[in-house]
Amino acid sequence: MSPFFVKSVLALVFVAAGSAAALAMFALMGRSEHKTSPMTLRRLHRAMGYVFVVLLVVTTVLCVRYVAQVGDRISVRAALHGVLAVLLIGVLAIKIVIVRWFKGLLNVAPALGVTVLVLAVAVAATSAGYFFVRLGAARGVDAAGVETASGVAVPAGGDADRGRGIFEENCSACHAADSDESGFGPGLKGLFRNDKLPASGRAATVGNVVGQLREPVGMMPSFSSVAGQDLADLVEYLKTL
Ligand code: HEC
Repeated sequence: MSPFFVKSVLALVFVAAGSAAALAMFALMGRSEHKTSPMTLRRLHRAMGYVFVVLLVVTTVLCVRYVAQVGDRISVRAALHGVLAVLLIGVLAIKIVIVRWFKGLLNVAPALGVTVLVLAVAVAATSAGYFFVRLGAARGVDAAGVETASGVAVPAGGDADRGRGIFEENCSACHAADSDESGFGPGLKGLFRNDKLPASGRAATVGNVVGQLREPVGMMPSFSSVAGQDLADLVEYLKTL
């Protein structure tokens, strides 16, 4: 299981906890009659708030590790996700500080709380939402073994030895070459000997692997820089795994 799958599932729980916390407060402040006691609603709000913060910390750590691996190669979407996440953390921190220590400002807490929830949904949509949509699309279209037309020509006569260097430079931070165990990305041992690609289940063809480098499924950054002879060498090397 890739860390992105784990993170995406955590993100769903994260949004659910945030929504539950908000609903508890809506029920407390927005209704004149209470079916549930105000005390229980407050407790529920706080408990869901803690779950929300813990998941925020865990997913932030995963993201920071990912950025440390990928550096500036992150996509525009990932950058947007990061900016929204920083805003979310800032607004949430202000809200917690007000609720704990500056009770005179308590009247702005509901607006801050709703902002946190909206940002949480936006943060999850730009990462987990995208992840499930892409993975679903790749599975749906290609599970039958249809090849994605990547439209990229791979020159003949690649040199596997040179390809090893290209792999080590670009791919080995996330992919093992000598095992099928997952690191950041799935292990690529036996890549072309298996029928299917490890993450999407598409057919294991050169076209689909090159397609992965151009328009990756899931959270892999795109590698349009690997082209021409380099691409031929890399593909030749991948065939030896
Ligand atoms: C920053 C980490 C990272 C780097 C660097 C990286 N990949 Fe990936 N790769 C992934 C992840 C993560 C997945 C699985 C998709 C997912 O679960 O999000 C993946 C999936 C794949 C797949 C399987 C695609 C499928 O459809 O199942 C192939 C093949 C692949 N990568 C090849 C490469 C090659 C070749 C390179 C080097 C040019 C490379 N990757 C560089 C993270 C990376």
